[in-house]
Amino acid sequence: MAKLSAVNLALRLVLPCFLGSFFILAITPIAGSSRSPLSAITPDAWTSLNASIGGRLRRATPFALPCFAKYNNVTVPVDEVACKTIQDHYTSPSSRVENFSTNMLVQYETCMAQHTGCLLDYTNPQNPLATDGVSCDQGQISPYYVDIRAPSDIQAAFQFAEKTSVPLSIKNTGHDYMGRSRQLNSLGLWTHNLQTMSYHAQFTPEHCKTSHRAITVGAGVTFEQVYKFADDNDVMFIGGYASTIGASGGWLMGGGHSVLSPVYGLGVDRVLEIKIVTPDGKFRTANACQNSDLFWALRGGGGGTFGVVVESTHLVEPRIPLQAINMTFTPTADNLQEFFEILVNNSASWGGAGWGGHVLPPGGLVYVNPRLSLDEAKQSMAQLSTFSQNYNGTAEIQTFASWYAFFTKFIMEGTIASANTGPLGSRLLPQTLFESESGRTQLVAHLVKRTSELGFPYTPVVTPIAYNYTEGATSLTPAWRTGLWHYSTKATFSYNSSVEQIRAAYSTVHNFVRDELTPLAPDSGAYLNEGDVYESDHEYTYWGPNYERLAAIKAKYDPHRLLDCWKCVGWKGPAEHPCYITL
Ligand SMILES: Cc1cc2nc3c(=O)[nH]c(=O)nc-3n(C[C@H](O)[C@H](O)[C@H](O)COP(=O)(O)OP(=O)(O)OC[C@H]3O[C@@H](n4cnc5c(N)ncnc54)[C@H](O)[C@@H]3O)c2cc1C
Ligand SMILES: *[C@@H]1O[C@H](CO)[C@@H](O)[C@H](O)[C@H]1NC(C)=O
Ligand SMILES: *[C@@H]1O[C@H](CO)[C@@H](O)[C@H](O)[C@H]1NC(C)=O
Ligand SMILES: *[C@@H]1O[C@H](CO)[C@@H](O)[C@H](O)[C@H]1NC(C)=O
Ligand SMILES: *[C@@H]1O[C@H](CO)[C@@H](O)[C@H](O)[C@H]1NC(C)=O
Ligand SMILES: *[C@@H]1O[C@H](CO)[C@@H](O)[C@H](O)[C@H]1NC(C)=O
Ligand SMILES: *[C@@H]1O[C@H](CO)[C@@H](O)[C@H](O)[C@H]1NC(C)=O
Ligand SMILES: *[C@@H]1O[C@H](CO)[C@@H](O)[C@H](O)[C@H]1NC(C)=O
Ligand SMILES: *[C@@H]1O[C@H](CO)[C@@H](O)[C@H](O)[C@H]1NC(C)=O
Repeated sequence: MAKLSAVNLALRLVLPCFLGSFFILAITPIAGSSRSPLSAITPDAWTSLNASIGGRLRRATPFALPCFAKYNNVTVPVDEVACKTIQDHYTSPSSRVENFSTNMLVQYETCMAQHTGCLLDYTNPQNPLATDGVSCDQGQISPYYVDIRAPSDIQAAFQFAEKTSVPLSIKNTGHDYMGRSRQLNSLGLWTHNLQTMSYHAQFTPEHCKTSHRAITVGAGVTFEQVYKFADDNDVMFIGGYASTIGASGGWLMGGGHSVLSPVYGLGVDRVLEIKIVTPDGKFRTANACQNSDLFWALRGGGGGTFGVVVESTHLVEPRIPLQAINMTFTPTADNLQEFFEILVNNSASWGGAGWGGHVLPPGGLVYVNPRLSLDEAKQSMAQLSTFSQNYNGTAEIQTFASWYAFFTKFIMEGTIASANTGPLGSRLLPQTLFESESGRTQLVAHLVKRTSELGFPYTPVVTPIAYNYTEGATSLTPAWRTGLWHYSTKATFSYNSSVEQIRAAYSTVHNFVRDELTPLAPDSGAYLNEGDVYESDHEYTYWGPNYERLAAIKAKYDPHRLLDCWKCVGWKGPAEHPCYITL
């Protein structure tokens, strides 16, 4: 085995393009290892994998381990200094994103159904009750991961998975709301250190004819980085509403909404080219002119499914000033109905005028517009401004010199603490609902009731409503094209909730989506990155009529099903994902 690896290593250096087929023929899966193939891997086999990837195999322990005196029930020394650093930055997304062992939704670091893990109290990371006498368990953190620096690292990992049946998981920033960057006892692939960025005044996708102004980012680059880089190059990158999400991973492949999407489209609309290692071992360039079936699948088929993305190239826009409104009020029984009427009555025309943004608790919204002048923006928002005056709220409408200036003020400074647990559920609400009197009445009544029961809604108003879409270019559910709101709900539980309590929180979201949101828009769909984890018809809800073609493309590029994730295209089903609780 060791000798074979040395031969393989030599071959790899000389003949990288033959790598895939060679390894596959040379290898036999480990027998009798259906429970955890990973535990059957010998130290020598790890050493040999490590040697084949230039020493970039790492061991991973839970993020908060230094704070605990027991690890998997065995006594270990507490590292006070390291623990303090972890406690001080426990909820900081920018600290979490630098570490393989973190998720932004911390329950996915644990194995929920087995109730094992290693969490601090995210509402008070210094809380000694979280650590005293408690064992820190590995949970769902991969014991080993590859710190990917080159396509050949990914090729070696696919070889290894095929030969050993060890499952793979791909983690970029760990923002996924369904925890799809983890899998129990998997070999992790961490794309964080793929950190290149380049600007192209004229980018021509390989084998295509037309060129575009574009930016290429390595898979580990986050929005914070690319927004700054774009600004430095006098352009605007259209991306998400959080600093530390990656621009090439799950965000992109799942759709990728921005508050600028009403005008400029979704991430999938703007991507020009993706470089990816597919599970068949090939390093491919996918764009509209080559591997175009794969490119279509990557534009909406979801992360973690068709391969490991190494880099992506995105269309960029000129750096222009934007208008923004920051409106707040205190919701009361006297003003809530009126607020929601204004919101619902105006939504279609605001969308058409280019407004996008988020409606947010405790009461208000932040919207941005790249098309209007300041005066036009004020006029467009006049009814809302009057409302805020009448109810002692605030409505500030101002011009920002650039997207980066807006981002710095509204996203960076207001960065939401991560390391919470809130599972989401959502539904795309179609424009037609807002266009009929009865639809508006139904929606307003729902919003008033919902707010009294569950609190003020968080609603990204980010569908590409004023964007000129090319029919059939992406594989998302077409509900994105006719939708106006991406309307969500969420629930939380605590760091030490019991399995029963966690089940109750996921059930609350699931039942609310099924009983309250779906009836508002029965034929619509939902955003696969921010949908109900227990969505019962995920194929239709996330992909609509595109699912069958996606499944065929999955089978073509991943014939041995080396990649598998929760409710992803072609998934193997819940039995392969024992950490998810059964509702
Ligand atoms: C605070 C917060 C704010 C958010 N805001 C927005 C927003 O404004 N707009 C929006 O559209 N969404 C938003 N999201 C949702 C976000 O798009 C998803 O969480 C998305 O899955 C993040 O992708 P990631 O690659 O960064 O995260 P990860 O959790 O690391 O990965 C997500 C999925 O993609 C796969 N993946 C990651 N990297 C690769 C790769 N290189 N190749 C192949 N597969 C890969 C993973 O295996 C996993 O299945 C937000 C989420 C959070 C927690
Ligand atoms: C892989 O090799 C490198 C370099 O030799 C070493 O530092 C690292 O600890 C090894 N990884 C594992 C998991 O043994
Ligand atoms: C992640 O944090 C742990 C401490 O819990 C540390 O040992 C490890 O080196 C960190 N990994 C990275 C990649 O920073
Ligand atoms: C730790 O001990 C508890 C109680 O004895 C047991 O249920 C659990 O499985 C053990 N965990 C590990 C990782 O061994
Ligand atoms: C919203 O529109 C309806 C007509 O569809 C109208 O009756 C109602 O007064 C409007 N609400 C507000 C607050 O303007
Ligand atoms: C209006 O809000 C301000 C603070 O924003 C507060 O001082 C004032 O008392 C409020 N007035 C009324 C009538 O609620
Ligand atoms: C939005 O307005 C509210 C109320 O005036 C204010 O507290 C908040 O800081 C504003 N947000 C930003 C990013 O300016
Ligand atoms: C939308 O695209 C079509 C086809 O490319 C074009 O004819 C039309 O003018 C475009 N509309 C707008 C508003 O840009
Ligand atoms: C969780 O821990 C808190 C203290 O941090 C404690 O009060 C609570 O009872 C615990 N809950 C469960 C379900 O164990």
